[in-house]
Amino acid sequence: MKIVFYGAGNMAHAIFTGIINSKILAPEDIYLTNRTNEEMLQSYKEDLGIQYSYDDEALLKDADYVFLGSKPHDFDQLATRIKGNIHNQNKFISIMAGLPISYIKQKLDTHAPIARIMPNTNAHVGHSVTGVSFSSNFGPTSKEEVLEVINAFGSAIEVQEAHLHQVTAITGSGPAFLYHVFEQYVMAGTKLGLERAQVEESIRELIIGTSKMIERSDLSMEQLRKNITSKGGTTQAGLNALSEYNLEGIFEDCLNAAVNRSIELSAQEDEL
Ligand SMILES: NC(=O)c1ccc[n+]([C@@H]2O[C@H](COP(=O)([O-])OP(=O)(O)OC[C@H]3O[C@@H](n4cnc5c(N)ncnc54)[C@H](OP(=O)(O)O)[C@@H]3O)[C@@H](O)[C@H]2O)c1
Repeated sequence: MKIVFYGAGNMAHAIFTGIINSKILAPEDIYLTNRTNEEMLQSYKEDLGIQYSYDDEALLKDADYVFLGSKPHDFDQLATRIKGNIHNQNKFISIMAGLPISYIKQKLDTHAPIARIMPNTNAHVGHSVTGVSFSSNFGPTSKEEVLEVINAFGSAIEVQEAHLHQVTAITGSGPAFLYHVFEQYVMAGTKLGLERAQVEESIRELIIGTSKMIERSDLSMEQLRKNITSKGGTTQAGLNALSEYNLEGIFEDCLNAAVNRSIELSAQEDEL
């Protein structure tokens, strides 16, 4: 299998590093290209053994999967560059937020199968939750291959394209929402009189340890919470204070705002 990345930026880097680390492909089967930053491609070649080229005809001639990894607003230019060289066996995987499959198809002027994926930044540590949606002409074997590639940098959740807005909100933006909650927890912790550095370090370990408990346990988060909440104890007292606030409602507002913004942004792209 040959995979080509058009765009070798931040997110593409997390993805091809995951593919190489998981050994589903040899570095020599992965090709990179970008707009102008050859120095970056050269450094990936030296560090990882990946190939790179600016020869679109050669890149696409026998490529099975072609990642579209530019920023959404650069895609029209990228499509103009690619469309004259598309070959029969090319299948596209877009990581560009908000660009509908129909738009990509139209700009590439192709009937090739197109998948849209919505990874998150945890791809850098092999734990992206990635939403994926396929055009109707994507065959079952090819779908399996795409899912295998996604699993190389985390896990996949297949959804209808319309539901990628929800995936964008819950897991795409999710790391930022959780960081924000942790920031507030640190701020509140420092008000208890401990040094900020101590509080930050403790909470960092708390988050890592709690994540590992979730990962390693078969119990639900609710059950894990109940297991450490004794009646009349300190944890119960803290949870009682929290229950005075509508936390679920707060997160509903947060997620709805992100979904609505995702819909707005992709509508703007549709108008282009
Ligand atoms: N970062 C995230 O957490 C995240 C999460 C989900 C989805 N995404 C999506 O991932 C995409 C990339 O984001 P990023 O943060 O990785 O961006 P980035 O670091 O700015 O990388 C963009 C890449 O696209 C290349 N590029 C631009 N125009 C091109 C062209 N005409 N031909 C070939 N390559 C071209 C750039 O090349 P040069 O360097 O040579 O200009 C660069 O390698 C975005 O569409 C974003 O919506 C990102």
